[in-house]
Amino acid sequence: MNGRKRVWADIDLDAISHNLGVIRSRIREGGKIMLVSKADAYGHGVIPIARHVLSRNEVAAFGVGDSEEALELREAGIDAPILILGAIVEDEDELVVANDIAICAHSMSRIRQLEREARRQGRKCRIHIMVDTGMGRLGPFADKALELAQVVVDSEWLTLEGVATHFSSSQNVDDPFTQLQARRFDEFRDRLIASGVPVPVFHAANSGAVLFEDGATHDLVRVGAAAYGMIDRKKPGAETLRPALALRTQIIYLKDVPPGTPISYNRMYTTPKKTRIATLPIGYNDGLRYALSNRWSVLVNGQKAPIVGAISMDYCMVDVGHLPNVRAGDVCTLIGRDGDQELTVTDWADALRTVPYEVTTGLGRRVKRIHRPERCRPSLAVRSTRTSTTPPRTDQERAAEVS
Ligand SMILES: Cc1ncc(COP(=O)(O)O)c(C=O)c1O
Repeated sequence: MNGRKRVWADIDLDAISHNLGVIRSRIREGGKIMLVSKADAYGHGVIPIARHVLSRNEVAAFGVGDSEEALELREAGIDAPILILGAIVEDEDELVVANDIAICAHSMSRIRQLEREARRQGRKCRIHIMVDTGMGRLGPFADKALELAQVVVDSEWLTLEGVATHFSSSQNVDDPFTQLQARRFDEFRDRLIASGVPVPVFHAANSGAVLFEDGATHDLVRVGAAAYGMIDRKKPGAETLRPALALRTQIIYLKDVPPGTPISYNRMYTTPKKTRIATLPIGYNDGLRYALSNRWSVLVNGQKAPIVGAISMDYCMVDVGHLPNVRAGDVCTLIGRDGDQELTVTDWADALRTVPYEVTTGLGRRVKRIHRPERCRPSLAVRSTRTSTTPPRTDQERAAEVS
């Protein structure tokens, strides 16, 4: 046994702490950080991350996508403030109120339903109003938002905890549209204050606004991508972020093949010369998208090896004919660093013409998330043997790390 999984994601908790430090250095004094941890912390595995950042007082709250994600945190004993950033459906009302989960409410009917549920349970429900300043997704425009805020304030069973907006394109450095949205939000804030609506927390900035704009001036920022180090480090302001996720697998099978050997479904690739083909136990079910067939490379012992042929549900093949001493069991890196080489999640996203968010949230259930407290590259950097990664820790070791 070499102690490795078939396919795993090393999650570097120390990198997340570092990135939160970068974020903190960009926000105003006393400003709070909400870690956006929806979609299982963008595929990084939410519970160990939540415990880690809370144990270090690095965040004040969590932002989630729906009531199930909120409940998952509560069931893991996380009693920090949680805000559902999206919209909920009626069936979620009971759970939200019962578990003291704050919710963005976008319509009068939702507010009235939450009020009824809060009265029924005899517990107040905390509401945030999301005003649409240009995102065009959820939330009313300013006039209606003002009306909703007033209704919440007037209700015996609701508490107006926050007022927010969401930037649509803040990762485009210095985008004038982000500045326009910020101005609209500030105007809305002034109107609320002028009409005497008390609002404890104003929040707008997501990662792009924190890093690239002066958008972090409010009481709280809601950051995901920057915390997980998923932003292109070539952008000014993002240079010092550290990627938290590395995706790895190991060679499960090796075969020397003659020229003219077809590889995988539909013979999309045929070997032009005698070579050696390694089979890796990672496929599109794990998040290695079919569209990368014949178009992408992985790192084998710190060197690039091209994916050849169609990626299948559970496997892909790489040509390692140019690499010396490759053996079954050798670690392959699909995202992350191995020696001098690095494949980033933004590289993947660019190759797929998508966004990094889709890459990490698309990692499948079989990908074992292994949360490490220290930077998880030491054995890669000082690799003296062929196998280049630190073996994953045992379950007991990991449990001890997060407890
Ligand atoms: C409402 C809201 N706020 C904040 C964020 C965090 O965005 P980012 O990951 O770019 O920081 C998201 C993420 O999609 C969101 O939906």
